[in-house]
Amino acid sequence: MKNICVIGSGYVGMVTATCFADLGNKIVAVDVDEGKIEKLKQGVMPIYEPGLEELVERNVNAKRLYFTTSYEEGLQDADFVFICVGTPSAVDGEADLKYVRAAAQTIAEKMTKPLIVVNKSTVPVGTGDWTAEIIRNAQPEPIDFAVVSCPEFLREGSAIADFMNPDRNVFGSTNREAAEEVAHLYDPLGAVTVITDIRTSEMIKYASNAFLATRISFINEISIICERLGADVTEVARGMGYDKRIGPHFLNAGAGFGGSCFPKDVKALANMALIHGTHPQLLNAVMEINDFQRKHLGMKIRQLLDDSVDGKVIGMLGLAFKPNTDDIRDSPALTIARTLMNQGAKIRAYDPVAMENVKDELPTIELVENPYAVADGADILVVLTEWNEFKQLDMKRVKKLLNEPILVDGRNIYKPQTMRELGFVYRGVGRGFNGEGVRSD
Ligand code: NAD
Ligand code: UGA
Repeated sequence: MKNICVIGSGYVGMVTATCFADLGNKIVAVDVDEGKIEKLKQGVMPIYEPGLEELVERNVNAKRLYFTTSYEEGLQDADFVFICVGTPSAVDGEADLKYVRAAAQTIAEKMTKPLIVVNKSTVPVGTGDWTAEIIRNAQPEPIDFAVVSCPEFLREGSAIADFMNPDRNVFGSTNREAAEEVAHLYDPLGAVTVITDIRTSEMIKYASNAFLATRISFINEISIICERLGADVTEVARGMGYDKRIGPHFLNAGAGFGGSCFPKDVKALANMALIHGTHPQLLNAVMEINDFQRKHLGMKIRQLLDDSVDGKVIGMLGLAFKPNTDDIRDSPALTIARTLMNQGAKIRAYDPVAMENVKDELPTIELVENPYAVADGADILVVLTEWNEFKQLDMKRVKKLLNEPILVDGRNIYKPQTMRELGFVYRGVGRGFNGEGVRSD
């Protein structure tokens, strides 16, 4: 049993705190957002993450997990403090470190005994050294501490399983002993461990996200070529994925990558490269292709509506940036909705869990209670998040409800042939000539 303080109760902080508690440690989770902490104390989750609520309840009841806004309380008995605050994009795409700075400063001011400070936020290479400097300068009197980088690789929607069954855990520090102590916290998981220096650890995180984003942009570029040449990108990806050197993951063409991480992290890495005098050509192309993929879907929708969306009702299935999350940060669905609304369209949408968040972000979208209500009287139906519940809709009913039986499958969840047999004008992503399907002759 270790005493651990977790700073920041967002997606990463909540999962880290709860999973470490479940492994038998005593955790105090600290957040500056009073409303969030108040809700957590009442058992109300600030985010939607499958399995989280039950796990929080179990560990709160077992008195292994506490929530507070007080750093003093959080640090009182702590041997480790995990920084899990946001690192959003700043003006030029660089990571904005204001939350990390504030957390480091407050830790320095409130710590009363030696401490290992673990950075889980995704931060530019060099931030570990900078964090140590901030702590050193802000301590009222010198107390021993070490800084360890321990990047997080979980995915939203499967975060608990990812924490409990990681492909690897990475630890970086100038203080090897401290890195090993943090690594021991993960011993019960039996995962592969990489212990390295702090800058390499920070770079492993950016390089991993950028590589996955590159695979997505690669297959999206292939999808556009498939549309011109009459091939089906889903079959192309399947045929590629069996090659062990390539593998099947992250080869789904679609609306492009979104979320709070890939877009900002690729941008931040490109920015790091630029300000250090190199030219990140591939990273720039990855971002450009991703922007184009969203625009391309918007253009496809417009073309199918006789080149004008003005006054048309566009039905959207899915608003979250991916299934099994309520996160709408940089969601392709919202970018496409904004573009179409600027061109005069009316958007009617449904998402199983993200609608509350959309109400604040884009109040002009009409939100309805199920996929059939979306289709009712719409001029076109567009799938933008591949939620399971969209995969087996009563498509005969959907077709009857639509004004025109036009279906844009932005995540390739339906079989083109089946949809055409049902009488839909079907367009997927990268599925045959101009998205019209592979010729059977
Ligand atoms: P988030 O925005 O969901 O949560 C951050 C939390 O930190 C918020 O609750 C905020 O109130 C709190 N906070 C801000 N400043 C604070 C301070 N000074 N003291 C205490 N609390 C403070 O962010 P997130 O999605 O959990 O991401 C956190 C970091 O982890 C980012 O760097 C992100 O890139 C990285 N990351 C995220 C994921 C993911 O799936 N979301 C996965 C891997 C890594
Ligand atoms: C991603 C990484 O997968 C995690 O390892 C990492 O920890 C996290 O970013 C982070 O640093 O925050 P996440 O953003 O939760 O996790 O979701 P992913 O499943 O990776 O999907 C990201 C985006 O790519 C989504 O918009 C998804 O729709 C899109 N995507 C994914 C595709 O378009 N095609 C694919 O084949 C896979």
